Amino acid sequence: GKDKELIRDSWESLGKNKVPHGIVMFTRLFELDPTLLTLFNYKTKCGVVPECLSSPEFLEHVTKVMVVIDAAVNNLDDLDSLEDFLLNLGRKHQAVGVKTQSFSVVGEALLYMLQCSLGTDYTAALRQAWLNMYTIVVAAMTRGWAM
Ligand code: HEM
Repeated sequence: GKDKELIRDSWESLGKNKVPHGIVMFTRLFELDPTLLTLFNYKTKCGVVPECLSSPEFLEHVTKVMVVIDAAVNNLDDLDSLEDFLLNLGRKHQAVGVKTQSFSVVGEALLYMLQCSLGTDYTAALRQAWLNMYTIVVAAMTRGWAM
């Protein structure tokens, strides 16, 4: 329906530039919750935001997150097909000390990135469509987290 169309159309160009858009998203994430920085225990120290955002391992994680979003957008007709992957992903985040509430903060950062990138195309309907999709992704990760 219309929601899927809004998501697919808006992701078409964003999905081709995952790292820059992912950086906007994570910069916002650390503004919203700077304590999340401490969960990235990479060899390259992630003490402060600018250092962290240029560390290769961190940029890899940014890419990983964007690839998951990409997978969700590409499987909008059958998000259940991602269930096992997302359960496992939730479990992995439990193991590295991420709290489930932090997934919602990532959602806020995602919406912020969309707003920055889409300008006037960022409508209430588009925001809601993205939020609905992200909520489904996070619900599965949260179930896996608690397993
Ligand atoms: C792995 C942190 C949110 C996708 C990891 C790892 C850490 C981490 C420390 C393990 C090291 C690594 O692979 O880089 C966080 C923090 C988050 C967060 C602090 C903030 C709440 C997310 C979200 C997604 C995601 C929302 C996707 C929607 C991934 C993927 C992996 C990963 C795909 C690799 C898992 C694997 O090795 O199979 N994350 N993460 N992360 N994260 Fe996150």
